[in-house]
Amino acid sequence: MKQHSHALPATRHARTMDDVYRYQRFIYDLTRKYYLFGRDTLLGSLEIPDGARVLEIGCGTGRNLVMAARANPQALFYGVDISAQMLKTASAKAAKAGIGERVITVAGDAETFDARRSFQLAGFQRVFFSYSLSMVPDWQRAFSNALDQLDPGGQLHIVDFGEMEHWPGFARRSMRKWLAGFHVEPRAGMTRIVETLATQRGFSTSARALAGGYAVLIAVSRDPVAMKPLSVDTADDDASFIHKMIP
Ligand SMILES: C[S@@+](CC[C@H](N)C(=O)[O-])C[C@H]1O[C@@H](n2cnc3c(N)ncnc32)[C@H](O)[C@@H]1O
Repeated sequence: MKQHSHALPATRHARTMDDVYRYQRFIYDLTRKYYLFGRDTLLGSLEIPDGARVLEIGCGTGRNLVMAARANPQALFYGVDISAQMLKTASAKAAKAGIGERVITVAGDAETFDARRSFQLAGFQRVFFSYSLSMVPDWQRAFSNALDQLDPGGQLHIVDFGEMEHWPGFARRSMRKWLAGFHVEPRAGMTRIVETLATQRGFSTSARALAGGYAVLIAVSRDPVAMKPLSVDTADDDASFIHKMIP
């Protein structure tokens, strides 16, 4: 994996993320497999054109970038994360997969970074957040910043925790408490707020909830017709057990 600067942005949040992931990164992919539900569905809905540039914001261990790069040999992949610790794992993973030349990562804060300037590119045909907006302090600012990174015909995709609105109260409260221990906060009204922010900028959105609101999938584009319908194939996701936990 090509690396630009992995120097840690000197903010409190960057230090917190490094503290969370310093050791977790070694068991991250194995453990998160069972509860970061919908990531494979998001990757399937990207429909990456040949030659596209694809950016993941909050790329973590590079799990998604490496999977997408393997499936799309004609595209280039870029990742940004605030944790230098996570980026070490991402680099190693892409190098091990033999696709380091097509997967480039850089340290940056989702709220402020300019990916086009960092990577010296005009823009991205696909930008996505996978379970990262629930950790970014000003997630709405990060979302608006991501729209700025898109090519005119580009699409932005999100998968993240939902409000678990159809879960029993005790299960919802327990899950939220457990997530808070990892500095994760499901964003209240995320689908509605994304739609409002996107519409103000001339974009359309489509969204659906998974597993009783456990997760949400959102797609944003200037051309709604070009977006693949957000259907869910539970077989291609890792956590179908979640369906068994809800009424
Ligand atoms: C739960 S992990 C998800 C990783 C990966 N996207 C996945 O689906 O496996 C969230 C990631 O977001 C990153 N992150 C949190 N706040 C961030 C910020 N302000 N800017 C960039 N990355 C951030 C964390 O360091 C972490 O790697």
